Amino acid sequence: MTAEPLEIHLEEQDVGRNLRQEVRAGLTAEEKWLSPKWFYDARGSQLFEEITRLAEYYQTGAERAVLLDRAAEIATVSGAKTLIELGSGSSEKTRLLLDAFTRHGDLGTFVPLDVSVSALRESTARIAVDYPGLRVRGIVGDFTRHLDRLPAGGRRLVVFLGGTIGNLLPAERAEFLAAMRAALEPGDWLLVGTDLVKDPAIIVPAYDDAAGVTAEFNRNVLRVINRELDADFDPAAFDHVALWNPEREWIEMRLRARHPMRVQVLDTEVTFAAGEELRTEVSAKFRPEGIAAELREAGFVTSEFWTDPAGLFGVTLARAE
Ligand code: SAH
Ligand code: AVI
Repeated sequence: MTAEPLEIHLEEQDVGRNLRQEVRAGLTAEEKWLSPKWFYDARGSQLFEEITRLAEYYQTGAERAVLLDRAAEIATVSGAKTLIELGSGSSEKTRLLLDAFTRHGDLGTFVPLDVSVSALRESTARIAVDYPGLRVRGIVGDFTRHLDRLPAGGRRLVVFLGGTIGNLLPAERAEFLAAMRAALEPGDWLLVGTDLVKDPAIIVPAYDDAAGVTAEFNRNVLRVINRELDADFDPAAFDHVALWNPEREWIEMRLRARHPMRVQVLDTEVTFAAGEELRTEVSAKFRPEGIAAELREAGFVTSEFWTDPAGLFGVTLARAE
């Protein structure tokens, strides 16, 4: 079976407009910033897949261990007819759920949503072949803007894996969860993966690996801006920085200018002093009680919270009230 053509909710001109607005706001701010969603062009999506295979990046293996253990329970308890995945990327771990639904449920439709067209094209094509009975509807969209366009009806399970919810700032996260709840009906389910607070000696190397893959992933955002906005960043002139912020309990990825620079972006010249940093991502780490509280605030009730045996990563199953 072949996947249905991708549903495009994010047209090129829309991406361009959104990127221009953000770049203008982020690069003219007192403390420069960019949103992490711009990492993921085809090369960025590939680099992320490489990161998931690094020894230092414990998250993927830990979350996979939980799903391996609990997939059957998730399929049975949710009784979902439609599985929606946000920020789906390669959907590799999601196959554990699809396998469980094949054995224990009667899932009809899989709806992966991602900003990365390349990642979606590949994942939907492969999944359609490997799960011939399943309707596969890929959506090119932004989970901070397009949750009101998710397919309605039937019992739904929305999965948001990998700890990607931690890449939203706290206010964005609250807004995201409220929009998520508004898009669901009482009795629908949400499965969310969150990296947990732990010794920074474990967390920091996951964002500063020995092979330098994360550094390349980080610099990729400058290549995206060069291509999309005709800018002239020299990615090699920026050092990769991964910093643990103990007050906020998040990792900050930054790019640090090696020397003073003038960069032409859009109609603006952006200047960097030597050593000046541009924040490209936060990756929040969570405590179990905090996750449950944020979900409750948005109108979800936590049904289960699981971790891998080492307690590195948490997966929460919650029901819309
Ligand atoms: N869920 C996968 C991939 C995580 S990487 C896993 O657990 O391994 C994060 C994914 O979210 C990428 O595929 C990226 O393209 C996507 N993404 C990031 N910001 C997004 C946004 N605002 N809307 C939709 N997708 C987004
Ligand atoms: C997708 N997201 C959860 C990853 C993370 O760990 O925050 C993105 C990433 N950034 C650096 N390495 C991986």
